[in-house]
Amino acid sequence: MNAQGNNLQLYATSTVFTTTLVQRDKTSLDHLPLDLFTAIESLKKELNAVILAHYYQEPDIQDIADCIGDSLQLAKAAANTNADVIVFAGVHFMAETAKILNPDKLVLLPDLNAGCSLADTCPPKEFAAFKSAHPNHLVISYINCSAEIKAMSDIICTSSNAVKIVESLPQDQQIIFAPDRNLGRYVMEKTGRDLVLWQGSCVVHETFSEKKIAQLKIAYPEAEAIAHPECETSVLRHASFIGSTAALLKYCQESPTKEFIVATEPGIIHQMQKQAPHKHFIPAPPLNNCACNECPFMRLNTLEKLYWAMKNRTPEITMSEDIRLAALQPIQRMLEMSA
Ligand code: 13P
Ligand code: SF4
Repeated sequence: MNAQGNNLQLYATSTVFTTTLVQRDKTSLDHLPLDLFTAIESLKKELNAVILAHYYQEPDIQDIADCIGDSLQLAKAAANTNADVIVFAGVHFMAETAKILNPDKLVLLPDLNAGCSLADTCPPKEFAAFKSAHPNHLVISYINCSAEIKAMSDIICTSSNAVKIVESLPQDQQIIFAPDRNLGRYVMEKTGRDLVLWQGSCVVHETFSEKKIAQLKIAYPEAEAIAHPECETSVLRHASFIGSTAALLKYCQESPTKEFIVATEPGIIHQMQKQAPHKHFIPAPPLNNCACNECPFMRLNTLEKLYWAMKNRTPEITMSEDIRLAALQPIQRMLEMSA
């Protein structure tokens, strides 16, 4: 083939390639409604669905949700809903908790890969061995764990009620606290109790730079630092208030302070800003120049994926009935203890 023939062949190949790409794009655009908010609202009615969203979700998802909350509020909402379908805009362990509480409902998670680095630090086999090594201990597990870990636990807790639940137990009761070592250390400090800690942690909450927070406090002398108890002790010691996402939100709204350095996933700032538009919220920076203070798992959910999940009624959360029944008891204990 001569040079011109070669060129023609190349041209023909790239034209076909371009045409295919354009058609694919057009096809997917054709199927995605222009007004996703209206389309999701109408699917909500059609399915008798409720959308539950965590504060770490992207703003559009928070804005379309029927209930936005921290892990405890969302577990309570899941326990009390009359909807037939629960669309969980959060991570896998949260949707799993909703399914444990609602075996007959369809529970959808927009992206099944929305896991949790903290839950992943606690594999069931290793945890079973850890538990056997402490036979006289009661197991309190943070809700950020798999259904298998919940099934091996006595009581579930969240960052909202961990201190209260530990305090309610007799002083001489020995306790394993899993999987978050930072929340565990915080609970030990608040209660003066000695807990046996599983050494798990969250990649997002361990990313904050103590040095950069200290620098921000100098740059903004009026600002108060506030933090989630999943942060390391080095960060928590700079915080004038420590609490779950819901508690942080409430504190910002009620405090006379006008400026806050927020050491948790920055998705929460959408609600902080909505509830107190005149206040200034500064996300606590990570160690590196990255967006690693954003939870990569929470952010896998998008409004588009939420629409497709409702439209196609998938991906659905499923689990074995044995695990579900064993995991249900410690969740119910938590709900009774935080009524
Ligand atoms: P809360 O929802 O209890 O504040 O926990 C935050 C978190 O990391 C959820 O994954
Ligand atoms: Fe898990 Fe951390 Fe993401 Fe929360 S912020 S879902 S604990 S990885």
